[in-house]
Amino acid sequence: MPVLDEYLRRFADQHRRRGISSVYVLAESAQPERILGYYTLSAAEVDGQRLTEAERKKLPRYPVPCFRMGRLACRTDQRGRGLGKLLLGCAVDRCLKARQQIAAYALVVDAKDDVAKAFYVHFGFKPLRDAPLTLYLPLGQ
Ligand SMILES: CC(C)(COP(=O)(O)OP(=O)(O)OC[C@H]1O[C@@H](n2cnc3c(N)ncnc32)[C@H](O)[C@@H]1OP(=O)(O)O)[C@@H](O)C(=O)NCCC(=O)NCCS
Repeated sequence: MPVLDEYLRRFADQHRRRGISSVYVLAESAQPERILGYYTLSAAEVDGQRLTEAERKKLPRYPVPCFRMGRLACRTDQRGRGLGKLLLGCAVDRCLKARQQIAAYALVVDAKDDVAKAFYVHFGFKPLRDAPLTLYLPLGQ
């Protein structure tokens, strides 16, 4: 996937240093230079009015803090082996740990198309009311 590969090669380190996004890669310890997949996390905020009716009622009127997973990808030849699920699980776990110190309501993701959206929906993410390719997963109650 050229766009995702290019991000890793050209921008990942720069974005990490500048505080734009943190990049986490998956590799086997026997072959650490061969990246099997990765995801990025950043701080974000979302207007509570964009969430479901039931959630809106419980939230303040100003934007709520979130985490954003800007990118998630697995090597093309490794898809369908559970690595996407593993990476997503790691990302959620990392967010749950981080929110013990800094509050965040949900993990937000930007799906690049309907196929990617279906992946997130499979794991319980819900689309924003006004942006069907932006989805979120509440991290607490
Ligand atoms: C989306 C992506 C990360 C999924 O990774 P993967 O390793 O192929 O997926 P997994 O093997 O971990 O699948 C895990 C589960 O999700 C399901 N799944 C995978 N892709 C799916 C899709 N597009 N729609 C619905 N379900 C999907 C699998 O059936 C599996 O279900 P199960 O756990 O109930 O058996 C991968 O296809 C990818 O890198 N795509 C290109 C980049 C991309 O689209 N990223 C998304 C953000 S823009």
